Order: sequence, then C-alpha cells, then structure tokens
Amino acid sequence: MLTNFLKTQQLQNDKQLFLLPKRQLVTYALYVLVAVALLYLFVDPAAPASSTVKPSVAAPWMQEELTPPSSSPPHYHERSRSAATTQAVSSSSASCDYTDGEWLPDPRPPPYNGTACEAIKDGRSCMANGRTDTGYLHWRWQPRQCDLPDFSPEAFLRWLRNKHMAFVGDSLARNQAESLMCLLTSRSPAELVRREEDGRFRRWVFREHNATVSIFWSPFLVRGVEKSEHDGVRYNQLFLDAFDERWMSRWLAAGGGDVTIDAAVVSVGQWFRIPSVYHEGGKVVGCYGCGKELNHTETSFFAVFRDVLRRTLAEMTRRNHHEHGHGEKLVALTTFSPSHFDGEWNKGAPCTKTTGPYRKGEKEMGYTETEMRKIVVEEAAAAAAAAAAASEVRFAAVDVTAMANLRPDGHPGPYMRKNPFAAAEEGRPVQHDCLHWCMPGPVDTFNQILLQTMLRR
Ligand SMILES: *[C@@H]1O[C@H](CO)[C@@H](O)[C@H](O)[C@H]1NC(C)=O
Ligand SMILES: *[C@@H]1O[C@H](CO)[C@@H](O)[C@H](O)[C@H]1NC(C)=O
Ligand SMILES: *[C@@H]1O[C@H](CO)[C@@H](O)[C@H](O)[C@H]1NC(C)=O
Repeated sequence: MLTNFLKTQQLQNDKQLFLLPKRQLVTYALYVLVAVALLYLFVDPAAPASSTVKPSVAAPWMQEELTPPSSSPPHYHERSRSAATTQAVSSSSASCDYTDGEWLPDPRPPPYNGTACEAIKDGRSCMANGRTDTGYLHWRWQPRQCDLPDFSPEAFLRWLRNKHMAFVGDSLARNQAESLMCLLTSRSPAELVRREEDGRFRRWVFREHNATVSIFWSPFLVRGVEKSEHDGVRYNQLFLDAFDERWMSRWLAAGGGDVTIDAAVVSVGQWFRIPSVYHEGGKVVGCYGCGKELNHTETSFFAVFRDVLRRTLAEMTRRNHHEHGHGEKLVALTTFSPSHFDGEWNKGAPCTKTTGPYRKGEKEMGYTETEMRKIVVEEAAAAAAAAAAASEVRFAAVDVTAMANLRPDGHPGPYMRKNPFAAAEEGRPVQHDCLHWCMPGPVDTFNQILLQTMLRR
C-alpha cells in the first residue's frame, strides 16, 4: 500500500492525474484509496478511533518543565551568534524575501535538546528513537538578500504576553507547534493545562508571561469526517459550508476568557490529497479520487483547497468584526510542507537523501508543492487586502515550501519508531516517515520565520 501512495504522489507531481483515460483513472483511484491508509499512518500513527475526552491533567514531564530554565544545559542557551543575526528583528524584515536562499553549514549546537523536550510526539523524536547521525542538525537558512535572525524565545514570549496562539491544522501544524514549544521551553517553563484525544488538542500556559500556546486538530478547517480504514470509511467527507467550530468558536471572543484565540497559525494541505466527497447545502457537490465507484463529479482537490481557505479566512474576518477593542489579531498561514519519499515505501525505501540539504537549484519543487504553496500565498494576500480597511485581523503567509523542499535529510525516516530495524529482523518492512520533521530540525526554521512575521508591521 505504501508503494501505491508513492505512485499516487508521482502521478500528481506529473500533472497527469486529470488527463488520464477513465479506465486508468479508476485504477489510479483505487491506488489512491489504498494509499490513504498509509497517509493516515503518517498523519496520525497513534490516533485513537474514538474521541474520548480525557481530563486536563498535567503530564509527568511537566514536573521537569517546571524547574527553572537555568537547569537546562547551558550550551543550549548560549548559541554564539554571528554579528549579522544578533538582533531579534532583522532590519530588512519588512522587505526581505525569506523564500529565496540556501542552507549553509552552522557549527553551533541546535537551539534545544531534542531528547529532553517532552512536547515532542514519539514519531518525531528522532534522537530518542535512535537516530545517531547529527549532520542534519547543523544548518541554517540564509536568505539571499537579507538575514533571518535566530529564534528569540524572549522576543516571542514578549509578543505573546496576555495572548493565546493556536496552531490549527493537521500533523504538520502539530509538528510546528511542538517545535515552538521546544524552542520556548528551553528558556521559560510551561504548564500543560489541557490534553485531549491523544494530544490532538493540547494547551500550554507560560505562567511567567501569561502566554498560551495551543494545538487544535482540524485537517480540513471546515467540518469534516476523516476517512477511517478501520470503520470501512474510504473517503473523507468535507462539509464546505460548515466550519470546524472546535477551533473557530474560539476565534470569536464571545466564549471569553483564556480560550479566545489572538493569533492562529494555520497549517493544512496533506489531507486534501486524500480521496474525499464534498458536501454543500446538504448535497454532494463533488468528489476527488472516487472514480466511477460513487458516480460523483470528479473535482480538483486544488480547487477545493483554495475554496476552503477562502471561506475560512473570510469567516475569520467576518467574526472579528464583532470584536472591536481586543487588539490586532494575527492569522499566519504556513505554506505546504514537501515530503521526500524515494521509491517504494513497503520495500524499505528511505527518504531521497539523508545527509545534508540539496544545494540551491539542485531540487525543483514538485507540481503539487508548487500549486499548494501558491494557493496559500495567494489566499493569504487576498484575505489581507480584503480585511485591511475594516478589520483588526492581519493575514500573512509563512512561506516555507521552497526552504523545506531542500531538506530531505530532516525527516525522521526510519526513526519514526523506536528500534526501527527490529521490524527488518523479523522480516517485516521498515517504515519511513519522509513527511514530518525531526526536532530539532528544519521545522524550527518555520518558527524563525513565524516570529519575524509576528514582529513585522
Ligand atoms: C539532553 O537531554 C537528555 C535527557 O534529559 C540528557 O541525557 C542529555 O545529556 C542531554 N544532552 C545534552 C547534549 O545536553
Ligand atoms: C492573561 O491573558 C489572557 C488572554 O490569554 C487575558 O484574557 C487575561 O486578561 C490575562 N491576564 C492578565 C492578568 O493580564
Ligand atoms: C450517475 O449519475 C448520472 C447523473 O446524475 C445519472 O444519470 C446516472 O444514472 C448515474 N449512474 C449510476 C450508475 O448511478
């Protein structure tokens, strides 16, 4: 099934999917169906079938987090910085194009200890899972025309004082949120005050700063039912005209108190590539990857992705109209995060490259990556333009696609599990995750750019 996932990916990258004769389309639709199980694994390997709500108790690791920050190894605090990157805000940040640049060697230690950061979900805890090579840790992103300042936990927490930042989206949103928590808790302790559905919903508070960071699982932004192989549900169901109120209701301050979201980091995309049935006005209006089986009009998932983003951002502006006096709100949209599978997954295919980044120009962005990125950038700009006059909401894209495309070495690969090679010894294929990011790793750079986006006026 992993093979099929890759075939599907390659097909999409070749722009061929919508041009194929019908018979082939059905065949490929079947590939897609089977492949979904795999993506489900990536997206949430440990997700429970049910959505049991657990009480908000602090996890055991919180005891450690509550110790003073000075107890952490000092060299993780004192990265010696080059003169160019000492300021928290780059003087050229307003005009700087962070997308155009290259990865340069950086001998400094990573910004936090990946083994000690307890916010990391097991699947991304590469070091704890046994990854021993460290070359992937020592790179920094150098934009061509300016500098990207180091991540400053102080500057971030200063901005976040009396605010609540929510990461909304899929497992890539969670990956970025966990990176942020590692970056921040290396300097200031946080308390886990909510944890539900196996970590799909989490909330931390930095008491010293009265700052809140949370994670909301919402892979479609609109209301949806995720496909579930276990229950024989082979398609996602997306309700294009209904928002996912699990997070959207928190955007509006009417709920009050500490759950109101002041800044949203939205990161979605991967789940839109899974076969889905689209509903609107109580009717099925289209389908992606269904072939003849369901007899629905085949729809481009790119078009649906754009439509969902447009509706969601417009709704965020609309709801905020009722909320004057709460200060400016920020919506940061992380662009599509590329994967790097090479060959057939179920035959143990690794990521395309595990040592070092691609050099500038060495790896073109694939078609899907290019399109998904463009949609986010364009919709963020359109929402910003539409909101400018009347609203207190600021929209911005955190444009990471090109930069992340050059980092095939930053994925967990086999280290998505502990003892990955035990499977091979028992004759089972070793699985590789070439979609998510190890921490520390390239995903920390997403948050470097996020911080500059927050500080920019
Ligand atoms: C990272 O944290 C682990 C677990 O707390 C610790 O054993 C290890 O020594 C730390 N590594 C460094 C380089 O400080
Ligand atoms: C703490 O932050 C929340 C928003 O996250 C705000 O509602 C509350 O008033 C703040 N508390 C204080 C004491 O400033
Ligand atoms: C498929 O849908 C079309 C148009 O709605 C309808 O005419 C046709 O009978 C349907 N075919 C099947 C097999 O249900």
